[in-house]
Amino acid sequence: MNTLLHSIDSQRPDESILQQAVTLLLQGRLVAFPTETVYGLGAHALDADAVQRIFEAKGRPSTNPIIVHVAEISQAQELTTDWPESAKKLAAHDWPGPLTLVLPRREIVPDIVTAGGPTVAVRIPSHPVALALLKAAGIPIAAPSANRSEQLSPTTAQHVLDSLDGRIDMILDGGPTQVGLESTVLNLATSPPQLLRPGGITPQQIEAIIGPIQRHRESSDEILPSPGLLRRHYAPRTPLRLSQHPIEDIHRLLQQGLKVGWLSLNDSTVESDSVETILMPAEPELYANRLYSVLHEMDQKDLDILIVSSLPETEDWLAIRDRLQRASANP
Ligand code: TXA
Ligand code: MG
Repeated sequence: MNTLLHSIDSQRPDESILQQAVTLLLQGRLVAFPTETVYGLGAHALDADAVQRIFEAKGRPSTNPIIVHVAEISQAQELTTDWPESAKKLAAHDWPGPLTLVLPRREIVPDIVTAGGPTVAVRIPSHPVALALLKAAGIPIAAPSANRSEQLSPTTAQHVLDSLDGRIDMILDGGPTQVGLESTVLNLATSPPQLLRPGGITPQQIEAIIGPIQRHRESSDEILPSPGLLRRHYAPRTPLRLSQHPIEDIHRLLQQGLKVGWLSLNDSTVESDSVETILMPAEPELYANRLYSVLHEMDQKDLDILIVSSLPETEDWLAIRDRLQRASANP
């Protein structure tokens, strides 16, 4: 299959390009598009054959359900049998935006979208291209991150191309994404609601709107009810290790003759041709925005190991710690 790559104005998306994408989606084909979090790989959510193609293109296990993207709250309600007060409040406060809500599903949602489960995950993305595409298509769009299964999520169209060229029909290139980490996933089908995946919207922000939720336990090995919580996920190809004492660790690795990449958080240096250092921003929003891009870049350099300086324990770093802990888990 030939993958079409189209640049699209991220503020005022070009109508004719959108129409080409809509035509493909309505034919059951796959279109990757930017959202504010990461690029998504979209298919007509109510067309089981189309969604099946997502699983094939990604090599995704059929046990992992997919988020359905919509343009309007009323469309989300058409996919769910219950729209509790908590959904009303969160949708009013955070949509469009990087928050995914899990609710009891209606029959019209194909089994393949929900991995056969009783719930469906929905969100309204805020990226102008994603919103324009959803509005022009007039259908719900199922879209996981546009990468091969278990690989890093894409934050640029080039990342999508590197991972899925020849396996999907079209990529809309709207430039780099803003948030840089996947959405927060919150299960509203349980009482209390349960955080399934931390993201840009923090537990504190959610609790300020709907009261106490069950928080996600960091670095636990228990089996959790969302497959995205499989321990190893979001991983670069290069082995990655979080380190409290990066400089000592790097010296030890250099003595073993290894080539080391370092995501540093302060400006100390290790003088060696065998170390590639990137000074990361000390501010969580900026760090998240750069993280996947830096990991993609480091993966091109033929390094033996990536050392990531450990991060502050505060809640604004929660989603970043979560992704890096998963990336550092042994396969
Ligand atoms: O920011 C995002 O959420 C991006 C953009 C494209 O929207 N999408 C994304 O999709 O990250 P994906 O497939 O890579 O991750 C979706 C996560 C997975 O952890 C999946 O298990 C969980 O959401 N999920 C989807 N439907 C679910 C459901 N019905 N119940 C529980 N978890 C669900
Ligand atoms: Mg993903």
